[in-house]
Amino acid sequence: MEEKIYLYPVWVRVWHWLNALLFFLLVFTGLSMQYAAKDSHLIPFNFSVTIHNICGIILVINFLFFAFANRFTWNGKYYKIQLKGYGRDLWKQIKFYSWGIFEKEPHPFPVTKERKFNPLQQLSYVIAMYLLLPLIIITGLGLMFPELTLTVLFGKSGIWLTDLFHQFLGFFLTIFWLIHLYFCTVGKTATSNFKSMIDGWH
Ligand code: HEM
Repeated sequence: MEEKIYLYPVWVRVWHWLNALLFFLLVFTGLSMQYAAKDSHLIPFNFSVTIHNICGIILVINFLFFAFANRFTWNGKYYKIQLKGYGRDLWKQIKFYSWGIFEKEPHPFPVTKERKFNPLQQLSYVIAMYLLLPLIIITGLGLMFPELTLTVLFGKSGIWLTDLFHQFLGFFLTIFWLIHLYFCTVGKTATSNFKSMIDGWH
């Protein structure tokens, strides 16, 4: 039997599930604002705006908590990519997910206390948490406080460009989310990763 490892401390789990809930509400209200007519009765436009703004602000606080806690705890170590040999390891992982996994080959990077994420997982988490999320937060704040946003950029409305970029980032984060959900099901069993994120044990 494999040894049990405690990988997800309480703060990671609380941060993660709050982040997931907020993310869901933000995508839902964001899409609703995008497609609903202004006087729609299904989900009133102003209601979506209010929920989107409140969730956005809580997400910023939650993100700052994550960044701060990661900076000062052991968990942050898992997000530091060691460049030496990284390309080779990443390729190994891609090959494993492309065919090794279907041939029942052993996992190239089994989970240990020192290595919680495989190279592909690590890259996707770093991009989502330290690139896409900060950018969507900055553009979101730019839309919430338009007086702080450039009026004109490259001859176009600054607000329009900020909005476009915000939606672009929302799209990419949603793609990340869907891929994330799929990869969470390819653990030891289809539900084992979800259980780990609930009780903390891998
Ligand atoms: C319904 C929504 C979600 C579910 C069910 C879910 C599920 C999970 C599970 C099972 C894990 C643990 C396995 C692993 O480490 O890969 C995990 C980790 C993680 N998820 Fe999610 N996730 C969701 C949404 C999100 C969203 C929206 C983001 C970011 C935008 C996100 C970012 C992360 C990160 C960064 C980790 C690693 C945390 C750490 O251990 O430091 N997740 N997720």
